[in-house]
Amino acid sequence: MAHTMLLGLDVGGSSIKAALVDVERGAAVTPLQSVRTPTPSTPEAVLQACARIDRELGAQGTVGLAFPSVVQGGIARTAANVDKSWIGCAGGARLSQLIGRPVIFLNDADAAGLAEVSAGGAAAGVKGVVIMLTFGTGIGSGLFLDGELVPNTEFGHMELHGRDAELSASARIRTEERLDWPSWCARVNEYLARLHALFWPDLFIIGGSISEDFEQFGHLLKSPAEIRRAAHGALAGVIGAAFAAARQRQR
Ligand code: BGC
Repeated sequence: MAHTMLLGLDVGGSSIKAALVDVERGAAVTPLQSVRTPTPSTPEAVLQACARIDRELGAQGTVGLAFPSVVQGGIARTAANVDKSWIGCAGGARLSQLIGRPVIFLNDADAAGLAEVSAGGAAAGVKGVVIMLTFGTGIGSGLFLDGELVPNTEFGHMELHGRDAELSASARIRTEERLDWPSWCARVNEYLARLHALFWPDLFIIGGSISEDFEQFGHLLKSPAEIRRAAHGALAGVIGAAFAAARQRQR
């Protein structure tokens, strides 16, 4: 039987990533496309860019659109690292109008986690509590119990030393403050310790753009919970968005 190829789009504060994904195999079948997120990152500009990618890749069927905000009832409710005009925007419905096909709209870290708890992911078949963390422009989180998602956790905004954790421990901050791996990991370890004290996860998955460098810093991360690198690396959001499209699960 022919496999289903669906477009996964992962909009970030800095770039929009996309690929056609074989949703049965859980793997991208086209090279990862990456374009800069338009500035200002208004819904109109971002969704036009997404529609262009959809055309260029000749995608068919439902599209998965992962986005860096709380997405409830198909509507973006927050906008920490994108233009504030996203708040209240029915992103999936608007992209659907542009491309004439259905779109499933969900949080980016939730999407990344969906890829990681599925076959081929770092948490495939793991029972218990799994926390997916994506370190990029911000910090995204996905909470899973026995492989089932609890949507829209926003652990990147947990307070550490009086400010959002993502303002001291994201990949962007590491670059901006030119932190070496031990200094950055010290911050992340403090963050993991707080999360562990509150949620007692069995497993943390480290994803996002930083996961590409995991060999350099992974051994410096410490937690009573097990820590694994995202098996899909920075592609997890794209793959998970396509999975969500295949399952037609709208949040
Ligand atoms: C947003 C989250 C998002 C994360 C990673 C945070 O600033 O509030 O919704 O998952 O960044 O992109």
